[in-house]
Amino acid sequence: MSRLARFTAVPLLALVATLALIAPSASAQASRYEAEDAACEGTVDSNYAGFSGRGFCNTPNRVGARMEFTVHAETAGTLTLGVKYANGSTAARPADLSVNGALVRSAVAFEPIGAWSSWAVENLTVPVRAGANTVRLTAATAGGLANIDYLDTARAGDSALPPNLQWNSSGPLVFPKSDATHNIVSVKDPSVVYHNGRYHVFVSVVSANQGYSLAYLSFTDWSQAGSAPLRFLDTTAIGTGYKAAPQVFYFAPQQRWYLTYQIGDNVAYSTTANIADPASWSAPKPFYAGTPQIVLDNMGEGQWLDFWTICDSANCHMYSSDDNGNLYRAQTSLARFPNGFSEPVIAMHDPNHHWLFEGANVYRLAGENEYLLMVEAITAGGRIFRSWTSSNVSGPWTPLADTKENPFASRSNVTFDGTAWTNDISHGELIRGGVDQTLTVSPCDLRFLYQGKDPDVSAPYNLLPWRLGLLTQTNSPC
Ligand code: GCU
Ligand code: CA
Repeated sequence: MSRLARFTAVPLLALVATLALIAPSASAQASRYEAEDAACEGTVDSNYAGFSGRGFCNTPNRVGARMEFTVHAETAGTLTLGVKYANGSTAARPADLSVNGALVRSAVAFEPIGAWSSWAVENLTVPVRAGANTVRLTAATAGGLANIDYLDTARAGDSALPPNLQWNSSGPLVFPKSDATHNIVSVKDPSVVYHNGRYHVFVSVVSANQGYSLAYLSFTDWSQAGSAPLRFLDTTAIGTGYKAAPQVFYFAPQQRWYLTYQIGDNVAYSTTANIADPASWSAPKPFYAGTPQIVLDNMGEGQWLDFWTICDSANCHMYSSDDNGNLYRAQTSLARFPNGFSEPVIAMHDPNHHWLFEGANVYRLAGENEYLLMVEAITAGGRIFRSWTSSNVSGPWTPLADTKENPFASRSNVTFDGTAWTNDISHGELIRGGVDQTLTVSPCDLRFLYQGKDPDVSAPYNLLPWRLGLLTQTNSPC
């Protein structure tokens, strides 16, 4: 009865072997298995934009409809699968996931995402054997499967980071400062690079009237951070009006510094040749024509915010959040950056929006074929960071320290010298080893500049007294 055709993929084995020869560390590379090359019960369609390759698998709408990928693993162990799908219906399209005939997870959700031309990724970590593995999705409900575009794989389970992280925190190091025209109540959302013997820190500042704008400070040593003046960037070409959550990096192909930041319904950038001269930033240019449809369809009561760009040798990837449980990723080529960003795809979703909230950072771990993703969550005990890793900058993402009991960073795995001045480990950024668009950090030297606040102050969010502190990892294995 089934039109499921056996298909033996020849996926990238030769390429993986070649990469193993040229890569500094010979770990498995991510591989992509297109739906049109897999066994699709149904048709391979191409009538909705946003797919990769030649099309996507559209199964009949019935229980038991299925598709099957043949996935190669270099060694037995675990692999993380990223299944890219579209579900333009209004109900989930749950599917049972089996590997080599054994049920691994029943009813993987494949939630609706608003349109058949909007795409999302389910991240699934599964056991595999060395060699060929059959990965089958079987529809659990009468809707059949979601439309499936591809399956990406990433190696799982051998991170260069320890599975339990421990930190020590400084006291507050950076404070709000006001001048005649800026009445500042908090300093937050830091982005930082170390260049020419100085730290260059970009922050959001919130004024007493709850307006957000950007500021800059620079110092040689953390002991000087508290006395460094705040330079308000609304007096430069960046201009007045809502601006928040900056990210700074040097885009080496153009020999220019980029500052990206949110402007309300969009994300914008300014550039300069001289990071030490805050007056030199160019006027804002938006990356998008407006908020993309997939974000409008999925953000609910949230906001599109916290934009984070990282590039590998071919592409730049922009991650963002919506305070509604969705982490987005968009992509453009290194050659086209800052233009050409695609419609975002939902890279990760959690039905509990507090649990996958905002403030995402992605870094490359120096000397490793490994990327680290951190996302801020809200818990009863305060803000925390959860973490994942991948052998690919675009995922799929494998949990590293992503639970309340074992977080990336939270009040529970941070010690303080003296008073514990904050319960929140909130929006921040790791201290990078370099300044360029690859955002490389040493896995041996993790330090995290973050925002925290006095837990005894209760106020509307925009009036909370955020300050910046620095976490230093205390259990580096190196
Ligand atoms: C529509 C849509 C298909 C999809 C189908 C479904 O017909 O065009 O791409 O597969 O709905 O509900 O499964
Ligand atoms: Ca269908």
